Amino acid sequence: METELAETQNTMGFLIKAVLVGALGVAVWFVFKKSTPKPIPQFDPEEWWGLNELKGRLDNSIRPFNVKFDEEMIKDLKSRLNNHRPLTRPLEGVAFEYGFNTNEIVSWLIYWAQEYNFSEREKFLNQFPQYKTYIQGLDIHFIRVKPQVAENVEIVPLLLMHGWPGSVREFYEAIPLLTRRQPGYNFAFEVVIPSIPGYGFSQGAVRPGLGAPQVSVIFKNLMNRLGYDKFYIQGGDWGAVIAATMATIFPDVILGHHSNMLTAYMFVGAYFPSLVMPEHLVDRLYPLSSLFAYVMEEFGYMHLQATKPDTLGVSLTDSPAGLLAYILEKFSTWTKRNHKFKADGGLEFRFTKDQLIDNLMIYWSTNCITTSMRFYAENFSNRNSEYGLSDITSPVPTWALQAKDEIFYQPPSFIKTKFVNLINNTVLDDGGHFLAFELPEVFTEDVFKAVKAFKEFHKNKTEL
Ligand SMILES: *[C@@H]1O[C@H](CO)[C@@H](O)[C@H](O)[C@H]1NC(C)=O
Ligand SMILES: *[C@@H]1O[C@H](CO)[C@@H](O)[C@H](O)[C@H]1NC(C)=O
Ligand SMILES: *[C@@H]1O[C@H](CO)[C@@H](O)[C@H](O)[C@H]1NC(C)=O
Ligand SMILES: *[C@@H]1O[C@H](CO)[C@@H](O)[C@H](O)[C@H]1NC(C)=O
Repeated sequence: METELAETQNTMGFLIKAVLVGALGVAVWFVFKKSTPKPIPQFDPEEWWGLNELKGRLDNSIRPFNVKFDEEMIKDLKSRLNNHRPLTRPLEGVAFEYGFNTNEIVSWLIYWAQEYNFSEREKFLNQFPQYKTYIQGLDIHFIRVKPQVAENVEIVPLLLMHGWPGSVREFYEAIPLLTRRQPGYNFAFEVVIPSIPGYGFSQGAVRPGLGAPQVSVIFKNLMNRLGYDKFYIQGGDWGAVIAATMATIFPDVILGHHSNMLTAYMFVGAYFPSLVMPEHLVDRLYPLSSLFAYVMEEFGYMHLQATKPDTLGVSLTDSPAGLLAYILEKFSTWTKRNHKFKADGGLEFRFTKDQLIDNLMIYWSTNCITTSMRFYAENFSNRNSEYGLSDITSPVPTWALQAKDEIFYQPPSFIKTKFVNLINNTVLDDGGHFLAFELPEVFTEDVFKAVKAFKEFHKNKTEL
């Protein structure tokens, strides 16, 4: 047993070294590539993602939308939850290290089937005005909330973008805070929160190719249709990647870019970490060997979703227990890494069962898990890599918010190689990947600070 373990560790050690060497090669290649500036690629603003026979037949109207959990779906869901096959017992002494603990999952399945109040939660999800509108052949869903403020308070448009395995639900706690005037600020936000195409209530593409740059085009078209030529953006997870892409390809449209998952480069400091970041933050990114061990342990999902999303989708589409385990495991370890050592995954450390099941309902009721996972395949596709967007710098004023348990920490010096006008970098000693959902007050406060600074940035520029 012990030798087997040692062998496994040796193999892991070797794999990690191999990955490291590979990574260094990639870093050299990146630095080399960056020395030749590239023009911003042009994307077709009308590229069609729906059925071809619908071309020219969809109107541009904005239709009110309400979430509806229909009786048939609820009945079917409950029967699947109640009739799941016996689950394989977890190994002795194992919490979440092998994935979702199957002893613990039972209480979730019972809660979902018997205690989750579908009609009440439906009402909860419908508390904000929601709409759908056809853009480039796809029916796109979004929440739009105008602030209730006095006439002298400026209304500032803000596009908020979610990621995987999240949804618009991540922002529900923050919406009332963002749309209210906060002390010390003379503005409040009008928020527009779309579902990424293929996520929740937004239709997915019918053909390959809809990755972050193409979604950026759709979201820009959405904002234009709502009457905004220029606006602010915020994102986490895929929302952060889409936001970074928008700031790169539409620098004249994006007034400011706030991100709680900015990624740039991380290889520079591998050998001399304190050169790139203050001592007390070094362990958030280095040593890279532990980062890569972490990546190998936690990123299997990404490889699968980027390569075989449809295969994975079959089982997740068919089993709510499977979907729950797959999605909530992410809410466990991405909120706090060491939650994997807790039998209950620490899921209720930040969230209630209702909050997490609301998000599951958005996936289950719309049957969108497969289309949501395809986004990984599109983002890593050759077509989208060839644009080389990560090599193009963005002048858009940018603000990074980095939670303690975010997947990667990025030092400002790295971020500035791409976002040359990085205005500030907030480093939290708390919070994880789903920051707006976990710490809505902290999140909101940072967004207000950032937008105030973005406004000052523009004012400084016009005064020059
Ligand atoms: C669900 O919530 C509604 C209130 O919104 C309440 O009237 C109803 O009794 C609840 N149903 C159950 C099964 O608890
Ligand atoms: C894919 O996503 C990663 C971040 O997860 C990003 O660094 C990369 O630039 C993206 N690639 C494309 C082609 O969008
Ligand atoms: C940047 O953040 C620091 C630390 O929170 C703060 O002291 C400073 O005022 C911020 N700068 C701007 C321009 O907001
Ligand atoms: C705007 O200019 C003032 C005065 O030079 C400077 O202190 C401040 O940092 C600038 N703010 C931004 C966001 O560039």
